[in-house]
Amino acid sequence: MASSMAAACAAAAASLSPPQSTAQRPGSQGRLLFPGAPASSRSLRLRTAGRRSPATRSLRRASKAVVAALADPLKVMISGAPASGKGTQCELIKAKYGLVHISAGDLLRAEIAAGSENGKQAKEYMEKGQLVPDEIVVNMVKERLLQPDAQENGWLLDGYPRSYSQAMALETLEIRPDTFILLDVPDELLVERVVGRRLDPVTGKIYHLKYSPPENEEIASRLTQRFDDTEEKVKLRLQTYYQNVESLLSTYDNVIVKVKGDVTVDEVFAEIDKQLSSILDKKTETVASA
Ligand code: AP5
Repeated sequence: MASSMAAACAAAAASLSPPQSTAQRPGSQGRLLFPGAPASSRSLRLRTAGRRSPATRSLRRASKAVVAALADPLKVMISGAPASGKGTQCELIKAKYGLVHISAGDLLRAEIAAGSENGKQAKEYMEKGQLVPDEIVVNMVKERLLQPDAQENGWLLDGYPRSYSQAMALETLEIRPDTFILLDVPDELLVERVVGRRLDPVTGKIYHLKYSPPENEEIASRLTQRFDDTEEKVKLRLQTYYQNVESLLSTYDNVIVKVKGDVTVDEVFAEIDKQLSSILDKKTETVASA
């Protein structure tokens, strides 16, 4: 319960802040800290009599978000072509909403790094820009999704499902998202994004040599490149994406939100943030009126 409260409080606290690309991570151990507030106000005790100050109104909103987050945490899927910005946006969403980020690509790369049999098989497909077979991917993601932290804090599924069969595997378990965010970026920008992408193996942060360059020489010197980040491979990955995306759009058509992805990282996040806040508000109203 402590961890779910932490996530709920983090989400509530975060919902009071304006969007920012360097969104602060939620308080680590479940404390909702309002700047300048005495320790006694951390319990979100609210005064109801008389006219409410802006601070009190903020606290009430936070309190409602806590209730909603505890009752029914956010469930988000994010999709889009290779290098459309899913990972970049997930870092910001995770920081603001405290969701558990589950990236199918990252899980597969972890298997490769561990030298497991699944990893060896997965790499063969990833090198060809093809989908890794369901026998490997479906259970891997399902198991992560059913972990208590994801169930309590809410989840952010990145790059999964990617095919009709993967979507159906979730439907069978009655696992459905509140929203399916589709990042829309013209193909001609994707190649440039892929070849310029670099990763920091220490922090996991995603960089781009032109659009998000490393902050200093020390970081620059340790950046790595993914084995499938070449022009040739991204074209194959893109082909695979287009072969499968329609089936996803029809499965999730009642919750799809298309977000323009060819603007700055901050602008993309502002749009996603608006959508997620609105969903959280609706959940809060439902809980508050129940
Ligand atoms: P995965 O790792 O998921 O790769 P992907 O879907 O191709 O997506 P990327 O990670 O390449 O890009 P992204 O959208 O996260 O973009 P990012 O934020 O990094 O999958 C890899 C492989 O694993 C697949 O090909 C497949 O083989 C296998 N696989 C994965 N999931 C699977 C599944 N469900 N089933 C079967 N197989 C699966 O951004 C890219 C670059 O652009 C960065 O440099 C970033 O700094 C920059 N950037 C981001 N946003 C902006 C912006 N707004 N403006 C300018 N630059 C930006």
